[in-house]
Amino acid sequence: MPEANQLEIRNLSVAFADTDRDVVCLDAIDLTLHSGEILGLVGESGCGKSTLCRAILRSLRAPAYIASGRMMWKGQDLFELDEAALNRVRWREIALVVQSSLDALNPVMRIERQLVDAMRVHMRWTRAQELARCHELLEWVGLPRRILQSFPFEMSGGMRQRVVIAMALALEPQLLIMDEPTTALDVVTQAEILGRIRELQKEQNFSVILVTHDLPLALDFCHSIAVMYAGRIVEKAASRVLVHNPRHPYTEGLLQAFPRADERHAPHRGVPGDPACLTSLPGGCPFHPRCTSATGLCAKITPDLIVCDEHALACHHPRGVVPPHQDMRASKGAIPIRDRVQHRALQGVRL
Ligand SMILES: Nc1ncnc2c1ncn2[C@@H]1O[C@H](COP(=O)(O)OP(=O)(O)OP(=O)(O)O)[C@@H](O)[C@H]1O
Ligand code: SF4
Ligand SMILES: [Mg+2]
Repeated sequence: MPEANQLEIRNLSVAFADTDRDVVCLDAIDLTLHSGEILGLVGESGCGKSTLCRAILRSLRAPAYIASGRMMWKGQDLFELDEAALNRVRWREIALVVQSSLDALNPVMRIERQLVDAMRVHMRWTRAQELARCHELLEWVGLPRRILQSFPFEMSGGMRQRVVIAMALALEPQLLIMDEPTTALDVVTQAEILGRIRELQKEQNFSVILVTHDLPLALDFCHSIAVMYAGRIVEKAASRVLVHNPRHPYTEGLLQAFPRADERHAPHRGVPGDPACLTSLPGGCPFHPRCTSATGLCAKITPDLIVCDEHALACHHPRGVVPPHQDMRASKGAIPIRDRVQHRALQGVRL
């Protein structure tokens, strides 16, 4: 179970240098991750999830730059580390499975070489130790040893994704960041891979940040959820709390956008309007043009993220407590990972 604070992000802002003016992409992000916590990061496309993942490892690409903030990793300030010290943290302590990581494998290199290369950057192992580690990693992610001699094009997408996750786990990181690791995969493979990661996480107690568009999946897989909108975290709470009591209207809309087992023929509600455009954000709360609860205050003042009883929220007019009968889990709509296969099939939802 989650323990002490491991990663603390305070007031982190990231901008993109543009010809006319710089565009703020992450705005005053405050986030705490505990040791052993599995955190889901959700939000519409373009809200800044991948940028946040890269910012944590200080691996943003120009024209992106960190405009302000502080990030503490196990008590050390990540912004004060020189490149050598930062490289020791990367992979060894914090590993990132980047979005579209399937494309990250070298197509003309056998899997064994790619796994071993990932280890050699940080470890001086004998050949026998490297091979033993490769075998262990493959076992962890459920792949046969023979694939060590395969090229990526000889494997299915699910097998390649397992290899990428094995590479990330090679040095037993304390934090595994996975940016949409299973989005491109069928729901059966997705369930298998995430189920395996959950088992490993229980065994080794590393922390996980899982980026996904799939809120039901995140609620099932993660201890806690951070919801992002237009470069800001608008709500963060334990999954079991959020599913009972989404207090931000955007979170509520996201939850309503997914089918529930007890509403098979009901039209799906969701979030009205279009996702925010970072280059032309409205004043006040960036969500106000789409929010059915917006008032004049919302159009003028941007709400701060305020933490109360471990529930962080940025909204002037938060929702009240949602009755238990609307709870997706209570109504069997939360869709535990294994049941999702059947659920999706029943709903006829294309993934
Ligand atoms: N290198 C870049 N230069 C300029 N703008 C960028 C760059 N990378 C990302 N952006 C912008 O930053 C915003 C956030 O992008 P990001 O990739 O973090 O979103 P995301 O939440 O991960 O989206 P998705 O769910 O589609 O992966 C987007 O508006 C995107 O256009
Ligand atoms: S601050 Fe206002 S506009 Fe923003 S989410 Fe809350 S109620 Fe809606
Ligand atoms: Mg992304």
